Amino acid sequence: MSDKVELKYKNKSYELPVMIGTENDIAMDISRLRAETGLITLDVGYQNTGSTTSSIAYIDGNNGVLRYRGYPIEQLAENATFPETAYLLIYGELPNYEQLANFRRMLTQNALVHEDMLHFFVGIPPMAHPMGILSSMVNALALYDPKYYAEESDSEDFDLMVARLISKVRTIAAFSYKKSIGEPFVYPDAKKSYCSNFLNMMFHSHAKPYDEDPLLEKVLNALLIIHADHEQNCSTSTVRLVGSSKANLYASVCAGINALWGPLHGGANQAAIETLLQIQESGMSIDQVMDRAKDKNDSFKLFGFGHRIYKSYDPRAKVLKNLVAKVFAERNINDPLLDIAYELEQRALNDDYFIERKLYPNVDFYSGILYRAIGIPVNMFTVMFAIGRLPGWIAHWKEMHDDPNFKIGRPRQVYTGLLERSYVPMDERY
Ligand code: CMC
Repeated sequence: MSDKVELKYKNKSYELPVMIGTENDIAMDISRLRAETGLITLDVGYQNTGSTTSSIAYIDGNNGVLRYRGYPIEQLAENATFPETAYLLIYGELPNYEQLANFRRMLTQNALVHEDMLHFFVGIPPMAHPMGILSSMVNALALYDPKYYAEESDSEDFDLMVARLISKVRTIAAFSYKKSIGEPFVYPDAKKSYCSNFLNMMFHSHAKPYDEDPLLEKVLNALLIIHADHEQNCSTSTVRLVGSSKANLYASVCAGINALWGPLHGGANQAAIETLLQIQESGMSIDQVMDRAKDKNDSFKLFGFGHRIYKSYDPRAKVLKNLVAKVFAERNINDPLLDIAYELEQRALNDDYFIERKLYPNVDFYSGILYRAIGIPVNMFTVMFAIGRLPGWIAHWKEMHDDPNFKIGRPRQVYTGLLERSYVPMDERY
């Protein structure tokens, strides 16, 4: 017999079904709650609310586990490429040779942005943040796609849109960087892999040609894979909510980019490095940093620490920390920010405040140090997160549209405002 939750309200009893996921997540199904009891639930910040069932990513926050479609993130980061992982997330299985070759061919054929779109770059102010540029340009992509709305997510139109988004987002990101440093754009090269192409578009110039660097390509692949999905996080939930109105994929993804920009979410990778730089430049001691981070009256925050779901070490941070050690040793890199980061982590892991609240380094603590080593400027860190997260957003948009129980997202509220009153003409006010 399946479990039920008994709810007692105003001398009446109600039974709520319990749903158990494949990894034993337990949920009380309240979909009939309001109809049967008149009650709604109140859950600020959705700390206890499951908005959907999903088979894309699994997180066990207490044990630091993250899997995409069942595959541990550590194995994917070590062995897979980003396009392979994107395919896995969106289509549900790792591609075979033919499927991957076809997917890569579509990425290559859709790497360019329409030449007319380059005029958009001309009008962008020099100090514009790359995340603002990225979201504006992704929204604009819909204008250049005559079939911008694919009703069927298992159609060729949808596959084409997926390839356009994943490939063009990389081109747009590199073009925004070139624009910010006043250099001519470097066009995508059909002979290069996804990550090699990106690095070439970013760093090749007439003065200094870009030499292919397999180690940096591997690091970039791992970083993008690490970012590729994280179930119902703020930006993915945004993509789902916007997409639930049947808004097109470009518009939905664009909303996700904007949600990711915030420093409590993807913007934390920029904020984390800026915090390390601030510590370095101000000469603050680690003791002072810790005191300030714990002081509720101080606006100073230790970005890159804490997570809504992980109450143990974030497995993504573990992969990236190991990768930092490997790359820095192999390339003999010495970054004083890494020494500060190591010291901060050690102190935090042994500090009662952090222990009691289960605050560990999250993905954004070490990713910035790796991006710096690759040569990515700080204000583009969150753009890198967005390029990585794109397959996850698309996979969730598709999963939602394929769901036979598809419904527009529309939360409720508990109204706490004034009761009805009559309009007061202007001359009778006050
Ligand atoms: N430094 C100091 N104290 C912290 C931190 C931190 N980085 N994070 C949380 N706390 C404290 C917080 O003040 C609260 O203390 P108290 O119980 O005394 O009021 C307690 O820990 C619980 O924190 P919360 O903010 O209620 O937890 P949340 O689940 O609502 O928020 C979070 C999670 C990620 C927004 C938060 O930990 C935070 O702001 N961290 C810094 C920003 C950051 O690194 N974000 C990136 C997250 S990983 C990338 C992604 O997937 O988005």
